[in-house]
Amino acid sequence: PIKIIHDCDPGHDDAIATMLALASPELEVLGLTVVYGNVGLERTTQNALAVRELLGSRVPIYAGADRPLVRERISAESVHGRSGLEGPHLPRPTRGLEPQHAVHFIIEQVMKYPGEVVLVPTGALTNIALALRMEPRIAPLIRQIVLMGGSIDFGNWSPSAEFNILCDPHAAKIVFGAGVPLMMCGLNLTHQTPATPDRVARFRALGTPVGEVTAQLLEFFRKHHQERYGWEGAPIHDACAVAFLIRPELFKTGMYWVEIEANEGLAYGRTICDYWNISGTPPNCEVGLEVDVNGFYDLLLERIGTY
Ligand code: BDR
Ligand code: CA
Repeated sequence: PIKIIHDCDPGHDDAIATMLALASPELEVLGLTVVYGNVGLERTTQNALAVRELLGSRVPIYAGADRPLVRERISAESVHGRSGLEGPHLPRPTRGLEPQHAVHFIIEQVMKYPGEVVLVPTGALTNIALALRMEPRIAPLIRQIVLMGGSIDFGNWSPSAEFNILCDPHAAKIVFGAGVPLMMCGLNLTHQTPATPDRVARFRALGTPVGEVTAQLLEFFRKHHQERYGWEGAPIHDACAVAFLIRPELFKTGMYWVEIEANEGLAYGRTICDYWNISGTPPNCEVGLEVDVNGFYDLLLERIGTY
């Protein structure tokens, strides 16, 4: 199996990404590292613990950064509710966080398994950037970074920027410039995965506690997307990154040069993709373009059905 660290800010779609990862024999989840993002770190860590409890997993969980490198913190209660995981009733965690800091854990694991560890960030890139800065020798040892963030077209938190990248554009700049093999699941890809009512019904029809929680997560997550965009369902953004590692054949991708705008202004936090290679700069990123959405849901259903 591929060794991964899921760096997340749960978050409805983060939680589903974690469920998919932990249920997949193709992956060995070394740990969850948590970052501020959708809500503050205190809540994202609590949410991660509650999700682990629900799943009956023993994966270790590490708390990381509670704020961006330079800019002020933004958050997304308007999308994920006050707790960051509003909707279902989740069990009270019986186990706590590991004492080690998330950034130390990332560095330690990459050094321990050189060339083997895939980092899967589905929140702000602060923990990953900090790890790269604290221990620059990890850069050539990271197998790949498969992230949810950015877009090659429009944003969702500003006309230009996607939320995760806008949370910490400076961290994103460090990550995109690190020379690590990158794969980006941006909004242009993830918006192809709306959890329509019939898809939500399939999770409910699993007839299991985790299937029911998934349905409730998706029902809450739909609200914002329905009101804001008039969509029938919420995209399960973060699960795309995990699904790519399990079933890359479901995805059509292209290699491009992608750079981050970290100067404040209209394009702050934009992932600028040189689609036509106008600059002549060699590609640094594999970009997700299309996903077989039925295959994606079949995979999610199959794996979440194992709980
Ligand atoms: C991203 O922002 C968060 O709200 C979601 O969890 C996802 O990672 C989508 O822009
Ligand atoms: Ca997220």
